[in-house]
Amino acid sequence: MAKYIKFHELQQQLKTNPMTIGISTQMDMLQERYGEKYLSVSESLLKLLEDLGYNTFEQAKHYMVDYIKGMMKFLQKGSYSNGTYEEIQEAVYDNEEKMLNIYLPGLILAHAVTILVYTKCHLFFNEFLNKLKPGAAGVDVGFGEGFYLLEILENIKDSKCYGFDISTHSLKFAPRLFKQAGIDEKRYSLSIGDIRKKLPLDDNSMDFAVIAEVIEHITNPEDALSELARVLKKDGLLFLSTVKDSNHMDHITNFPSSEYVEEMIEKAGFKVMAKSIQRNQDDFPDSKDISVGLAYVCRKI
Ligand SMILES: C[S@@+](CC[C@H](N)C(=O)[O-])C[C@H]1O[C@@H](n2cnc3c(N)ncnc32)[C@H](O)[C@@H]1O
Repeated sequence: MAKYIKFHELQQQLKTNPMTIGISTQMDMLQERYGEKYLSVSESLLKLLEDLGYNTFEQAKHYMVDYIKGMMKFLQKGSYSNGTYEEIQEAVYDNEEKMLNIYLPGLILAHAVTILVYTKCHLFFNEFLNKLKPGAAGVDVGFGEGFYLLEILENIKDSKCYGFDISTHSLKFAPRLFKQAGIDEKRYSLSIGDIRKKLPLDDNSMDFAVIAEVIEHITNPEDALSELARVLKKDGLLFLSTVKDSNHMDHITNFPSSEYVEEMIEKAGFKVMAKSIQRNQDDFPDSKDISVGLAYVCRKI
């Protein structure tokens, strides 16, 4: 186990604090469930985060504070109640301190240590990434910290990636991550872009598309899916992930059921090929946290 030093160091630290001890339990469960692949992904994310100058234990504490605040608010009010899109944009996406110190490093951490997020990565690795061909071109909207783009760039030879995000801070953060990981900057193009509008991409031009943890942030998820169907080639692959009953500071749309999400995807012109539905209470039956993580791999028909 000496191979996974960052992982074990962080786990020891998490056990010393009552607020973070549950994350350590999740890391044990993920290790048991997904073995060596999970350990190596988690270790390399934790290493990248530290190489970028972040303290993973401090990030874990920030992550838990925000997570608990969001969930308490949701459970008390019965809705996300985070304000309008414009209010959220000002408070979060345009807020340099929040994005660079908490939100974006927190997303990397969440992929490395939480069941809700890593379970979606497992589907991404096994049903999406391994189906992409060398030289494939694709788009990630709301790429945020850049986790999914990084995995594609590292694993799919000669792939070309276009990324769009509403936040200038994502545009600063993700290239730092890619540089740290040794990715050639000619292989990707990142721009400010808004999935509520038309993307600057031609019809039927992309081999793949990713929209991960974004449709719950907008009021018109159906239109975003239609826009991705427009830019994807026939048979092009889509990876979509989202949540239900799981609040964060910038969530707007809650979905009534996983069936509702699946129907919305199919109405936009996709066939669902594989999915993952992860209920927090299946793993932690005594928890009040009713979050459900949803992920889908789809083909444009
Ligand atoms: C929760 S993060 C997801 C990041 C990444 N896709 C992941 O799964 O880890 C949501 C991202 O969506 C971006 N975003 C929010 N509204 C957007 C919009 N209308 N168009 C494009 N990006 C948007 C935010 O700036 C943020 O980076």
